[in-house]
Amino acid sequence: MSTLMPQTMGLLQQRGEPALLGRTPEKLPSIESAFGIYLVDDLGNQFIDGISGAYAAVLGYSHPAMRAALADCGSVVPFVHNARFSNIWADELAEKLTEHFVLPDHRVYFSVSGADGLEAAMRISHVCAPPERKTGTFCSLRFSYHGATLGGLSASGHLKARQDYVGALKTDSVLVPAPLDGASIEDCLSAVEQAIREKPICAMIVEPVMGNAAGSAPLPTEYLVGVQQLCTAHGVGLIADEITSGFGRTGPALASKLAGLSPDITVVGKALTAGYFPISAALVSPSILERLPLRFTLLGHSHSAQPIGARLGLAAVNEIERLRPRIDELAAHLNALLTDGLKGSAVVEIQGRGLLYSIKLDPSYRIFQGRVSPSTIAYERALKEGLLTMPGSRLTDSGTTEEHLTIAPAYSMTDGELEEMITRLARALE
Ligand SMILES: Cc1ncc(COP(=O)(O)O)c(C=O)c1O
Repeated sequence: MSTLMPQTMGLLQQRGEPALLGRTPEKLPSIESAFGIYLVDDLGNQFIDGISGAYAAVLGYSHPAMRAALADCGSVVPFVHNARFSNIWADELAEKLTEHFVLPDHRVYFSVSGADGLEAAMRISHVCAPPERKTGTFCSLRFSYHGATLGGLSASGHLKARQDYVGALKTDSVLVPAPLDGASIEDCLSAVEQAIREKPICAMIVEPVMGNAAGSAPLPTEYLVGVQQLCTAHGVGLIADEITSGFGRTGPALASKLAGLSPDITVVGKALTAGYFPISAALVSPSILERLPLRFTLLGHSHSAQPIGARLGLAAVNEIERLRPRIDELAAHLNALLTDGLKGSAVVEIQGRGLLYSIKLDPSYRIFQGRVSPSTIAYERALKEGLLTMPGSRLTDSGTTEEHLTIAPAYSMTDGELEEMITRLARALE
């Protein structure tokens, strides 16, 4: 039942707007139930969720392990103020994360959203930087996305996301080219080196496998290793944003492990509670811990280390761990299906890794003649086929727009469901 006063309801209805800010004027499908990998709207349409919500619902919906954990939440203390008390649920989850990611001697700082987690990593990097780099100046990649807070946006190379907030963003943030679209690794590393030499950069932020803003591009190992070497040589911190790529989404538990990186701080979120609760975590390495000043104010949020979220996180991480061999199997199957299943359609190239891929679209293909962008058309066609994906586009250095459709299936999919997902995708792009 609505809690709005009758006269307020009336005003909103007169203007024809839903009360929730940001809803588009066209009616979005309203999801009323969900089971397995299916979302069901108010008209009874079923959609395969091919994007795990937004990379978070990695176990699908109504997962038995998560339902059991939800039931157990009735006996969890609902709120404990993290600045005043510890709580066993958050302590256990922190311990579990260091084991799960094999990050011995790391310490865990819990936040609420991915952006908060990243901001915590930025604050801690600032506090631990050498005096000449204690500037709060961060370097990051073009086409990166680090969240919707002013700090996260300041460090994001997602120009469309930044455009309306430019005057509010930090002006000293440094964006360097990403090794995409054929840009040479050597040139991209030179740009990092130049930035580090010329500006008092406190830390560099990288997504080892980039998100939808960059079409799920895995960064080459040689580039990542080069970045780590430059950071180490110049006393610059390295923050790995694994909010999307972590928890097996792009192969190993952490994408940075595949490149042999040891970031100073790694940030994870999204899959951490399989989408059941908003939590993120900054995993802080011993190299940072030994530089933490004895007296400083760590700060936190009202809901930091929230016990119910921690209880749900523990269930999700245990289940993700149990599914580990299955995640690898599913990733190999997806790779084979994408190689064989999308031939002769609107596809230019498929980019990604593990259970995260972006399908680059050919804008001249006949189905894309319309008033909206090819990725929007592809998204809507997929939706009509009963498949939820994520559209994306970006302006390349050569001035062309690269359009893509991203998929990121749940780890709990069966082989048959994965095949059905690719069949629907192929139909949408034919
Ligand atoms: C790589 C990356 N970093 C940070 C964020 C921000 O996370 P949140 O939306 O939970 O604040 C996102 C969200 O999409 C992301 O993909």
